[in-house]
Amino acid sequence: MSTRHFLTLLDLSTKELQAIIQRARQLKSLQKQHTLHESLKNYALGMIFEKSSTRTRVSFETGMMQLGGHALFLSSKDTQLGRGEPIEDSARVLSRMVDIITIRTFSQQTLDTFAAYSQVPVINALTDSYHPCQLLADMLTYQEQRGDIAGKTVTWIGDGNNMCHSYINAAKRWHFTLHIACPKGYDPDPQIAQQEGVDVTIFHDPITASENSDLITTDVWASMGQEQEQALREKAFADFQVNENVMSVAHPDCLFMHCLPAHREEEVTTAVLEGKQSVVWEQAENRLHAQKALLEFLLHVNI
Ligand code: CP
Ligand code: NVA
Repeated sequence: MSTRHFLTLLDLSTKELQAIIQRARQLKSLQKQHTLHESLKNYALGMIFEKSSTRTRVSFETGMMQLGGHALFLSSKDTQLGRGEPIEDSARVLSRMVDIITIRTFSQQTLDTFAAYSQVPVINALTDSYHPCQLLADMLTYQEQRGDIAGKTVTWIGDGNNMCHSYINAAKRWHFTLHIACPKGYDPDPQIAQQEGVDVTIFHDPITASENSDLITTDVWASMGQEQEQALREKAFADFQVNENVMSVAHPDCLFMHCLPAHREEEVTTAVLEGKQSVVWEQAENRLHAQKALLEFLLHVNI
């Protein structure tokens, strides 16, 4: 069987992504019943991290443990990658030892190169351009709470960043309308936003963008690697906070999501983050269930 990678959501078809979501629901239910399900017994996952992580690391590591396999945390600080061993060499060596690999890195090009040299499936655990694993959890969460997302309106408020780009890909795969509200100069990559088959509109006003939305989502204003821009971005994004005014123009049953970590009173108020429409904790938990289903899918294991 051919090696499939998960470098962006577009590596999988709508049908395949939806099968992963369905499987995640089954795995979640098995886990809640404490049913032993060791479909990945003796499988090893290598997890390369060049940036910090709480959710991604813990969900993959715990997920592998629950499926009977093993996960290795490989910080670039402690491996030869951090001392300049070429990505091509690292990929060829690691992929002869482990069965599947996740990478959190800066450029998508590094990830693409690693995947090109890997004998085993490679998963994007976040790059500067995309965060597809988070979208599996977000789509699972929406469907659990509200059913089918096709035809619904999702509003992204904030930076046109890696999460925003993955929302654009998700709009294409799950057929929802996407509104993006960002300050001028912080738009998503036009090549991603203007791809064929997506219903995306860019606004520069969060209230207009949020009218009648079914899901409102945001992210930090300064992503990992942009810490030195924090003050500049706080000014640029000041009018793009998700607060009760924004939520009030959306559908009454609109959900609020945030990939986390959140900065309270910056991109979102405490009232919204902790409010009735927020599903952020369920969304965070769903990283675990969705990624277990992704691991099974890429390893062609589903017992
Ligand atoms: N949402 C997310 O990816 O969180 P971490 O950076 O903690 O992994
Ligand atoms: N856009 C954020 C997402 C963190 C999960 C970042 O890249 O830091």
